[in-house]
Amino acid sequence: MKVGHDHFRSIWVESGEVRIIDQTQLPHKLVIKSLETLDEAAAAIRDMWVRGAPLIGATAAYGVAIAMRSDPSDVGLNRARDVLTATRPTAVNLRWALQEMVPQLATFEPPDRYERAMKRAGEISEQDVATNSAIGDHGLELIRALAERKPGPVNILTHCNAGWLATVDWGTATAPIYKAHHAGIPVHVWIDETRPRNQGAHLTAWEMASHGIPHALIVDNAGGHLMQHGEVDLVITGTDRTTATGDVCNKIGTYLKALAAHDNGVPFYVALPSPTIDWQARDGVSEIPIENRSGDEVSFVQGKFADGSVGQLRISPENTPTHNPAFDVTPARLVTGLITERGIASASAEGLAALFPEMAAS
Ligand code: MRU
Repeated sequence: MKVGHDHFRSIWVESGEVRIIDQTQLPHKLVIKSLETLDEAAAAIRDMWVRGAPLIGATAAYGVAIAMRSDPSDVGLNRARDVLTATRPTAVNLRWALQEMVPQLATFEPPDRYERAMKRAGEISEQDVATNSAIGDHGLELIRALAERKPGPVNILTHCNAGWLATVDWGTATAPIYKAHHAGIPVHVWIDETRPRNQGAHLTAWEMASHGIPHALIVDNAGGHLMQHGEVDLVITGTDRTTATGDVCNKIGTYLKALAAHDNGVPFYVALPSPTIDWQARDGVSEIPIENRSGDEVSFVQGKFADGSVGQLRISPENTPTHNPAFDVTPARLVTGLITERGIASASAEGLAALFPEMAAS
């Protein structure tokens, strides 16, 4: 999507190098990095230079390719799989991408593996762009229907960043918003700041501003109040893993938004590409691994100081104990619908099976 007059993707190949935007520096600096080794690709995912379920998957695919450049042996291939698998546990797109890459590469002779891997990683990236664009087309119709029923902009609340920075392009939750904006439908986005890492404040706010979409940043606790006062027409979030039964795992705090939406009769939709569905999982709360991240993410916030420097600020007493689960699970009963590349499904085993019969049967 647009940054100024330029079109950016979140990961791309240039002069034979895999390039990413270092998202830990946004919104203050646009820093582009090249990933040159397997360890760098793993660090990019683990330390969240890149993040968001689909982009984690695409980066893992390129990480395997990068590993094949220096060691295309079977040992090198298995090491790439193991190192990348260990980076982050919750987004199932990581496992999906490695499964797309590794068994197929193993069938080629080592000298052919690098080229094959780059090609497949490129295909996975292109597939993500097309998938998210289709999600946008389906979600657009929801927004259009709401716009026809009320004067003024459609107010959409979103949590974390499920925007183009979390995918290769378009985003999942944001694709319908971008498409509505392009279609001339007035939209206004409420952006949850999304503590502890503030992906809403840092990333979604930057995306919306870069694309000229009206928006306002709100603190995480404001959503319920806005819903009670009729100021939210629709919630759309992304997801890191959705079970075959429609339970949705997403950034911590999503569940509370779904509860508030349910209490206030506000439609709560989740946008997801099909690689985010874990067809083996049936109960999100008990089966999805929830990443626990460093307590420093709770104790410190990152921002820009008055002198223009960017740094971290402690917000709690020294040595205050912390706990930092990064995701939560919203039960399917609280989800109005799942916006996928094949259409909108009810959040249920039947709804997903109707859209993806070949996967549900496997
Ligand atoms: O910890 P993050 O920033 O990787 O978490 C991202 C999210 O929770 C997104 O909502 C999710 O990955 C969907 S991205 C299209």
